[in-house]
Amino acid sequence: MKVAVMGYGTVGSGVVEVIETHSDIIPKKIGGDTLEVAHILDLRDFPQDPHKDLFTKDFNDILNDPEVKIVAETMGGVNPAFDFTIKLLKAGKSVVTSNKELVAQKGLELLQAAEESGTNYLFEASVGGGIPIIRPLTQCLAANHIEGVAGILNGTTNFILTMMIEKGMSFADALKIAQDKGYAEKDPTADVEGHDACRKVCILASLAFGKHVYPSQVETEGISNITLEDVSYINSAGGVIKLLGQIKYISDDKIAAFVSPAVVYNGSQLASVKDVFNAILVRGDAVGDVCFYGPGAGKLPTASAVVADVIDCAKHTERKKIFGWGCGDEDYVVDYKDSIKMQFYVRAKASCAQINGIFSEVKYLSRKGQPSDEVAFITDVMTENELNNNLKNIEVINTIKVTNY
Ligand code: HSE
Repeated sequence: MKVAVMGYGTVGSGVVEVIETHSDIIPKKIGGDTLEVAHILDLRDFPQDPHKDLFTKDFNDILNDPEVKIVAETMGGVNPAFDFTIKLLKAGKSVVTSNKELVAQKGLELLQAAEESGTNYLFEASVGGGIPIIRPLTQCLAANHIEGVAGILNGTTNFILTMMIEKGMSFADALKIAQDKGYAEKDPTADVEGHDACRKVCILASLAFGKHVYPSQVETEGISNITLEDVSYINSAGGVIKLLGQIKYISDDKIAAFVSPAVVYNGSQLASVKDVFNAILVRGDAVGDVCFYGPGAGKLPTASAVVADVIDCAKHTERKKIFGWGCGDEDYVVDYKDSIKMQFYVRAKASCAQINGIFSEVKYLSRKGQPSDEVAFITDVMTENELNNNLKNIEVINTIKVTNY
């Protein structure tokens, strides 16, 4: 069976490599047929690459090849990936992707196009890299009412935070290593400022609750304000800082979804997730908490998930409808600052007397080299708007949510 790959970056080259190096086991999984990469679309030149005869710069070579039934889209970005994917689905070709930006922005339209043309649009690699999460969430946990999801969804930021926590390394040095290892997005701002995690939250929320959640609906804060001082205070509280995507069920018509740094206490399954690894904790009413863990980025882990989707398409050439979601109302995702109560870490230029005059119950933290005019503490449970109101006359240095996962 002929396959095309669009985008020959880290993931796309991994897809070609996995298809080729596993040419012995793949036929056994799809009933005897082999997978053959027939075209690789990329605008760049790869003169030294052994696949140079397969490269094309013209998308129509793929669209108009009747033998190509499955296309792996590993280009990233919304355009032109959206235009290409819609055309391929309408032409009766199945598409699999690692492109979380596209699924988060346009998943509803693309799934509808796949439905109408009787093709598959699969995206296991779009969340958690090599971790199986899309099928487990939609199939294996289908009997549950999902109460919430909390995930470490970005390998680059988890790697940076791990280096800060365990090696006292600077943010910039850790980011450089993550980029060299091929974890980071082309523009690492998407990692560092939480946009990549936000896209993954949108996909998980859409799958878990059946209505499309768009990135613009998810309040997102990255890790660029996190300092080694915060790391040290939170260590004294028996926790670590993680960039978490959180989704909470409120009612059938309302959810909360947000991405932010969060204090995770060491007893949590999420606290021990280090380096580029990701983990997604799903809380179901029947199953309780289940945690999916594994490599969240990188060439071969992500290719593993993409090629699994290719194999699934090859096995099920008849339409196999697994995924889908509808449209949510404009106010479907509520303002979590008003509706979700939690504890907070606060670091401020203030005295304990000032803080005790505002909060009834706080737990003070300490660090080596703590200036005499600086306090850090964990608050009681409240909404973020209540917290901000309490702190309105205080010179705040940083606040971080404390998670209950
Ligand atoms: N830049 C992403 C990350 C790649 O670091 O997790 C995988 O989506």
